[in-house]
Amino acid sequence: MPNTVNSKTARTQQNNLPLTKLPYFDIKRQHDPLLGGTLEAFEKVYSSGAYILGPALKEFERKFAGYLGVPYAAGVASGTDALIFGLKAAGIKKGDEVVMPSFTFTATALAALHLGAVPVFADVDARSFTLDPKSVRKAISKKTKAMIPVHLFGQTADMDVLMEIAKSGKLKVVEDACQAHGATWKGKKAGAFGDAGAFSFYPTKNLGGIGDGGMLTTSNEPLYRRVLQYRNLGKGIVDPLVHDEIGWTSRLDSVQAAFLSIKLDHLDEMNDERRKLAGLFAQKLQKSPLVLPSEVPGALHVYHIYVVRVPGGKRDALKEFLAQEGVPSMIHYATPVHAQPIMKKYKTRRVPLPVTQALAGEVLTLPFFPGMTEAEVETVSQAVLKFFKR
Ligand SMILES: Cc1ncc(COP(=O)(O)O)c(C=O)c1O
Repeated sequence: MPNTVNSKTARTQQNNLPLTKLPYFDIKRQHDPLLGGTLEAFEKVYSSGAYILGPALKEFERKFAGYLGVPYAAGVASGTDALIFGLKAAGIKKGDEVVMPSFTFTATALAALHLGAVPVFADVDARSFTLDPKSVRKAISKKTKAMIPVHLFGQTADMDVLMEIAKSGKLKVVEDACQAHGATWKGKKAGAFGDAGAFSFYPTKNLGGIGDGGMLTTSNEPLYRRVLQYRNLGKGIVDPLVHDEIGWTSRLDSVQAAFLSIKLDHLDEMNDERRKLAGLFAQKLQKSPLVLPSEVPGALHVYHIYVVRVPGGKRDALKEFLAQEGVPSMIHYATPVHAQPIMKKYKTRRVPLPVTQALAGEVLTLPFFPGMTEAEVETVSQAVLKFFKR
């Protein structure tokens, strides 16, 4: 992996030569060092002719399950499909309520809607941005059958309390770990707690592929076997000529699996680098009025993205100022899921969401990615500090 401090870009700035435009995200810095091994692996897949459900997928599933510490992993076409299959295989059906945060990516709720289930939106904790157990308790009704804790921005939800609530309410738990590859709660990996875990391999993720992809993880063998059918048109596992389920065409293909196998070997290293970069930002921005990300005791944060809170109603002004200074930024998420137009067409329910509403007006995502240089962190931080000094 590229070394953050000694990279070419940092030296360029030290020599007072102009910096190339500061990127929000640069996938090539992660992938270029893997190119040799990737091309070899692609050649192997190409020659094998086994492009769908071949040995490359089996090998990656074995490695990913081992990395997480669960017995089963099923490669699918996307994180959204992993969520849908997890809920469906756990028995969630039309009319069942599924408690989830509103402060998440819309796909979390789409998964429930695809099954005719009803998303019930609960609030998040102001420090971790993950499900607030007190709000979850308020959200549960007689119709509630499942919960989706989302391990948002790379930090796990409080899985001790949430699993306890699920147990006492007999709720199924499908973890949305799409932003949390390698994150842990008290040493156990995100995606290894619930009835199922759902991961996305969208290119920007901590373990991102070179296209779309996803993975469902579980410790429940019958659930795993149902997912194998869902992803493969409902074909029987013993006899593929027997279709006894309504399935999808949603398999992770061999080329993605081969690439992700190679990248998985570097995931911890890249997550360490993310943690170091977050530490650098924390040092450089400590005197700014921004509320920086907090690491909740018990959670190992893997910083999928670096999200700060901008107090005093200045978020949009700071975003605009940064753009003028050549620093791109984004907002995750300006519109909470309950307020997305699509939700008006479907039955949903929610409890009061004061933290979610406040976050939507305050959060700002700074440029952040493995391979980012210290000079780039400095440039971003200086621009932020300049805004507040004006
Ligand atoms: C929290 C969350 N859930 C679900 C998804 C859906 O994953 P995918 O885009 O692979 O369908 C994503 C990412 O896009 C996500 O960030």
